[in-house]
Amino acid sequence: MTTSAMPQIKPEYVHWFRNSAPYINTHRGKTFVIMFGGEAVNHPNFNTLIHDFALLHSLGIKLVLVHGARPQIEKNLQEAGIVSPLHHDVRITPRTAMPSILQAVGAIRLQIEAQLSMGLANSPMYGSRIDAVSGNFVTARPYGIRDGVDHQMTGEVRSIDIEAIKNNLLHDHIVILGSMGYSATGEVFNLLSEDVALSAAVALGADKLIFLGKEADINDNGRLLHEMIPNEVDRFLRERDLNNEINYFLHCASVACRQGVHRTHIISYAKDGALLEELFTRDGSGTLISHDPYEEIRHANIDDVVGLIELLTPLEEQGILVSRSRERLEQEIDNYSVIERDGMILGCAALYPLDADSAEVACVAVHPEYRNGSRGADLLAFLEQQARSHGLHKLFVLTTRTAHWFVEQGFAEVDASALPKARQEKYHNGRNSKVFQKTL
Ligand SMILES: CC(C)(COP(=O)(O)OP(=O)(O)OC[C@H]1O[C@@H](n2cnc3c(N)ncnc32)[C@H](O)[C@@H]1OP(=O)(O)O)[C@@H](O)C(=O)NCCC(=O)NCCS
Repeated sequence: MTTSAMPQIKPEYVHWFRNSAPYINTHRGKTFVIMFGGEAVNHPNFNTLIHDFALLHSLGIKLVLVHGARPQIEKNLQEAGIVSPLHHDVRITPRTAMPSILQAVGAIRLQIEAQLSMGLANSPMYGSRIDAVSGNFVTARPYGIRDGVDHQMTGEVRSIDIEAIKNNLLHDHIVILGSMGYSATGEVFNLLSEDVALSAAVALGADKLIFLGKEADINDNGRLLHEMIPNEVDRFLRERDLNNEINYFLHCASVACRQGVHRTHIISYAKDGALLEELFTRDGSGTLISHDPYEEIRHANIDDVVGLIELLTPLEEQGILVSRSRERLEQEIDNYSVIERDGMILGCAALYPLDADSAEVACVAVHPEYRNGSRGADLLAFLEQQARSHGLHKLFVLTTRTAHWFVEQGFAEVDASALPKARQEKYHNGRNSKVFQKTL
């Protein structure tokens, strides 16, 4: 008799899945606007990209796909012998070009719809039929005469029918937008798909705007730039001679960010799996443009004292925190941790060891303009980590006004007699605060 060996669990697979799970939860129910040009549609990776869209959809992400059609339009125009010149990189669209353009845009839309509808045979998403919808969601107006040049049927986005799009997303449909818009007078205009994507993301208040480009590696002398904030993008655009595609993506990303889209990603469709890597791994694969600053939680040092005083003085004046002199802050600076953004101290918290088993949390404060962003909770988690690493099992906090917040963070009220002896003596001379304890 033969016994078959137990199949081995592949640790890297389990590791990957465990690390991706938080992202799956974070993205569920969120709205992503994803834009790709006609070049992506012609690329061999496009089939797998469609499967990845289907996968995102199945994970509960609301998707709006915006496609371009530049190479397909150019081919059609060439075949029809129609000249459609560019002026400052903007196409001038003669009325005679419209049938060729409509044919190219329509064909791509049909192709995407067909690929999403065919049950995704031979793919990991086999059996997941998806309803894709398109419609007159984009209203356009003529780009008009600029520098004396009439752009004819070239248009720009005037408005987006948010209600209709949201309604479709709510019903689990993927919404497809092309580079076409309809005017109030019933005319059809040729639009830039990047503008459609940007306008849709801003109007919908999308959680993410994603640009899929060919050469999407944005680097600074060979170093891939994983994260940028809008000001850096603007500087980068001024200083670099970038290709048109990246140039436009970055410009749109910066505008989107300033108009309330939390995150814009620029990713390469030519790298198989780059979209999933960007969305479900910590390091990602492309460039993220967001307003999220490079905030850092770290141990405080003597240079932070001035920033701490600025943060704490108003709270001390209101009687929310006990007054601490500059000298005291300097002496005790090693007990403090801070959140810093671009040199500004946004929050702080201190940890004072009491005995071999416990420590006291004090002076938890977040700048009023930066509250409710879980910075307070993050600071507390940072202190808890420090306490654990010192083998401590109990945290105390004494507070007069912030009791509920600490309860929400897992603290429970205890009698002052629970404090270590030495701290009890000081307590009885103090502000009659309530005592809370958390077991680590
Ligand atoms: C308490 C404090 C540090 C929280 O910072 P934060 O970054 O806003 O904290 P989080 O984002 O993690 O938590 C915000 C939540 O706590 C709630 N909260 C804030 N202060 C609270 C208080 N005093 N009592 C009860 N809940 C409070 C907010 O309403 C918010 O609730 P929500 O989820 O319903 O929106 C900040 O409000 C602060 O600096 N307060 C003044 C200083 C202070 O009281 N320090 C504690 C003394 S040691």
